[in-house]
Amino acid sequence: MSSLYHHLAPGFVERLGAGFAFLPRFAEHVAPELVEAVGAIAACAPFRRMETPGGRRMSVAMTNCGACGWVSGRSGYRYATADPHTGAPWPAMPELFSRLAAGAAERAGFSCFDPDVCLINRYEVGSRLTLHRDSDELDFSAPIVSISLGLPALFQWGGHSRSDGTLQLELRHGDALVWGGVDRLRYHGVLPLRDGDHPLLGRCRVNLTFRKAG
Ligand code: SIN
Ligand code: FE2
Repeated sequence: MSSLYHHLAPGFVERLGAGFAFLPRFAEHVAPELVEAVGAIAACAPFRRMETPGGRRMSVAMTNCGACGWVSGRSGYRYATADPHTGAPWPAMPELFSRLAAGAAERAGFSCFDPDVCLINRYEVGSRLTLHRDSDELDFSAPIVSISLGLPALFQWGGHSRSDGTLQLELRHGDALVWGGVDRLRYHGVLPLRDGDHPLLGRCRVNLTFRKAG
């Protein structure tokens, strides 16, 4: 779907639901800085494929920056102030990240978004994220802001029940998505990453999701 919109200038906002907005190329102009910052974060808090409560390994590799980070393990999903791998606090959220996330939220109609977590997902070819809701945060009045980098992905946007039909949206390098309000708890996922070679990131996709966890 985004291919229909991708020729449009950054600044264009496509409202796909009362609380769901697509901002094509919103972050394209700062993408090289974002990629560099992700490299610095991963040097302190390495990407890792977390275990699910059911004992499987996720295909997406994750890390975090911010006051806390999302972690998964045998005991469930939670936000933690320290990286369980190193015991150290997560790297601080770069000012560029929080400014960008607040700007995207503002464009989508959510003012004063002040994220305390940026979950960073790295997808290799074939990695996927099954349908889920972002529901581990304490306060659902804040939206989720997502920024895509690298290879394009097919994002699935569903309903309030897992079995509801999904809309498919192609997310490309620099695209932002914002969901909040009545759409905050909708199911969403990412289909297996198709092979390709991105000039900045090679054979992978990186997604930043900004959340207000606490
Ligand atoms: C997520 O749902 O946490 C990430 C979505 C994405 O990678 O686009
Ligand atoms: Fe999610």
